[in-house]
Amino acid sequence: MSARWSERQQAMLREMGVTLWLPPQTDGVQAPAPAAMPGSAPAPVRMIRPVAASAAEVTPPSAPRPLAARPSGVAAMDWPALREAVAGCEACGLCRSRRHTVFGVGHEQAQWMIVGEAPGEQEDRQGEPFVGKAGQLLDNMLRAVGLTRAEAGPEQQVYIANVLKCRPPMNRNPEPQEVAQCEPYLKRQVELVAPKLILAMGRFAVQSLLQTGEPIGRLRGRVHEYHGVPVVVTYHPAYLLRTPADKSRAWEDLCLAREVLRQTGG
Ligand code: URA
Repeated sequence: MSARWSERQQAMLREMGVTLWLPPQTDGVQAPAPAAMPGSAPAPVRMIRPVAASAAEVTPPSAPRPLAARPSGVAAMDWPALREAVAGCEACGLCRSRRHTVFGVGHEQAQWMIVGEAPGEQEDRQGEPFVGKAGQLLDNMLRAVGLTRAEAGPEQQVYIANVLKCRPPMNRNPEPQEVAQCEPYLKRQVELVAPKLILAMGRFAVQSLLQTGEPIGRLRGRVHEYHGVPVVVTYHPAYLLRTPADKSRAWEDLCLAREVLRQTGG
């Protein structure tokens, strides 16, 4: 019986047809209905005590798959080993929501290496970088300077990779710990391709390759370096789709990259 309601109060409430809700009893026993007051017609009073579920009855939310350490020895891997390591990587939470890892495509000795941010929805579905609308613009930009992702020699065919190999859910920004976990894969790709030039596209690619927080606008127009490879910085094609007025600046960046390559004998 509830300590909150006296017998007399309960009888009054019953007369008014009020349903009493009592706090749960840990033993899960339903409280019996109180006896009717003598001489009065018992009103339909229901006293319902929620039954506390036992631990066994509660279905626990499905526990996320635990993360695993990144495979060791990435810095010495050859192409097949690196591809396999990325395909099976569970070093950050993005492995839980990805459809495919997106390793990279292109000529394995390309002179030009293009580095983007992370796979989007289309890339996650197809397992290839830059296949959505931004990818179409990238292909057009490359064509404008005589380059392609299609099969060709190492002077014309580029190699394309992203900082992250898995899609961040809802295309949110990459988190620093995701970038840190994925960085060794990109570093090894750069070592294996040994490009003459890296074109870094967009804030995340630029900031993670150059280890800086400076905006692209302040980094454009100069030649930077990533582990000994010249880096030219430009806008991300997705940004250019939203801000076509900056396409002329991206064209200047491509011309700078081409000039750097010419001067380094590419
Ligand atoms: N944006 C990127 O940075 N990379 C892709 O692969 C696709 C979109």
